[in-house]
Amino acid sequence: MKIIIDSRENIAKKAALRYVELLSKKPDAILGYATGSTPLDLYGELVKLNKEGKISFKDVTTFNLDEYVGLDGSHDQSYRYFMNTNLFSKVDIDVSKTNVPSGLDTSAETAAAYDKAIEAAGGIDIQLLGIGNNGHIGFNEPGTPFGSSTHMVELTESTREANKRFFASIDDVPTHAVTMGIKTVMNAKSIIIIALGKAKAEIVKKTIYGDVTPDVPASVLQLHPDVEFYIDEEAAELIK
Ligand code: GLP
Repeated sequence: MKIIIDSRENIAKKAALRYVELLSKKPDAILGYATGSTPLDLYGELVKLNKEGKISFKDVTTFNLDEYVGLDGSHDQSYRYFMNTNLFSKVDIDVSKTNVPSGLDTSAETAAAYDKAIEAAGGIDIQLLGIGNNGHIGFNEPGTPFGSSTHMVELTESTREANKRFFASIDDVPTHAVTMGIKTVMNAKSIIIIALGKAKAEIVKKTIYGDVTPDVPASVLQLHPDVEFYIDEEAAELIK
């Protein structure tokens, strides 16, 4: 695991360069995207580079990590809406080649089809990840088996609590989500994970230096051959 400690601004710039590099060699790359507040600066940077003509998403296919159960893509808190608003509508991407798990069809067949579609596309070249305060990646909460593929999960109270800031009240936060599994994530050829802010300091330390255990889902990344972990000064407080 390569660890890069830098300012938020530089993290967005450096991570964006990974995409410039990949897409210049492989314009039809397969990108795994994430939501949450963490990737927003990176998405801003990708939009800027696209406007400047330094990167094109014209031929890429994307797969997002997860979606809330019960929200359709027009709901302003759905992850489909998030991606359309923060990235897809602002770059030269073909939206028909962007995939987000369905929050409405939660059947096992549809979940399995998501993994199959990733495989059929040739696998994810770069999977982007944020990290939950409890170490979740995607919505793989503590205890999720490392061998899991795309599936429906029940969100923990701590995750619903952390995400309630985006909803009118905690009662509006969905109780379930559909997420790529840990195995789906680990199958990606490269992984970029970003952690920002003081609240992530403890989990960053556990992820990098703690035991590899399903109790800390992100710890599995210690076993992946190509991970870049971008950490801002605050989130790196306990590992410096
Ligand atoms: C959500 C998402 C995760 C994300 C996490 C952290 O639960 N499902 O993919 O990494 O939140 O969010 P934030 O980046 O806002 O801290």
